[in-house]
Amino acid sequence: MIKRLWANRSKAKASLPHTEGIPPENVPEHVAIIMDGNGRWAKRRGLPRMAGHHSGMKTVKRITIEANRLGVKYLTLYAFSTENWKRPKAEVDFLMKLPQQFLEIELEDLIANNVQVKMMGHREDLPPHTLSAVEEAISKTAGNSGLVLNFALNYGSRKEMLETVQAIAADVREGKLTPEQINDELFSQRLLSGELPDPDLLIRTSGELRLSNFMLWQLAYSELWFTDVYWPEFTEQHFHEAIEEYGRRARRYGGV
Ligand code: FPP
Repeated sequence: MIKRLWANRSKAKASLPHTEGIPPENVPEHVAIIMDGNGRWAKRRGLPRMAGHHSGMKTVKRITIEANRLGVKYLTLYAFSTENWKRPKAEVDFLMKLPQQFLEIELEDLIANNVQVKMMGHREDLPPHTLSAVEEAISKTAGNSGLVLNFALNYGSRKEMLETVQAIAADVREGKLTPEQINDELFSQRLLSGELPDPDLLIRTSGELRLSNFMLWQLAYSELWFTDVYWPEFTEQHFHEAIEEYGRRARRYGGV
């Protein structure tokens, strides 16, 4: 029943012109998104910032469905950074409730559609209610084999890299590793994103042109795509535009 709901949506979408013309080989395996502009979207409408985050949650659902339908394998969403704790407490509390709210409504649908939920971030500082909701979703979807929906939650790339360096240094001190064994592959595997390939495509909404401490190591060779559109108004059509542009790029990884 729930599965059909998503399927019907996809069928309706399939007839829209903007969904045509993306050959499967041009669909990126891993898309990462900095979902920015919720606050400005709300302000423009005279609404509280929280209304923007709530609306942004609906965009998460729409883009997850579309990514799954297009055959994207990994979708990483920057939901809360290690710097976002600086925001007013009421906003932080609201943001920390969103994963729970989202999963209460969507988990059944995610399971029915073979989506695997994962989390990338510093778990220790998350409120128990946030962490338990995410852990429950991770365990209930662990057997699925479809789209990996990876929430970057309390994630910071510099902290991630420093902690990885510390752990590797400890292994060297204990004689488990030699300095010569430390290479790209080992370092990548030991990051919080260790199980995932590097993003092929990074999307950032709201007109800001920066990475904001997001996956700095992993984005080394990713294609970057920016749009002025605020996250709550980011549609499947915008997502297609990004993927179509990605399909036109020649990725050379430093070669010719
Ligand atoms: C940045 O916009 C957005 C965030 C810090 C939060 C992103 C969270 C969501 C989109 C909802 C997450 C949903 C789930 C399911 C976890 P901003 O507030 O910085 O916007 P502004 O720059 O316009 O102020």
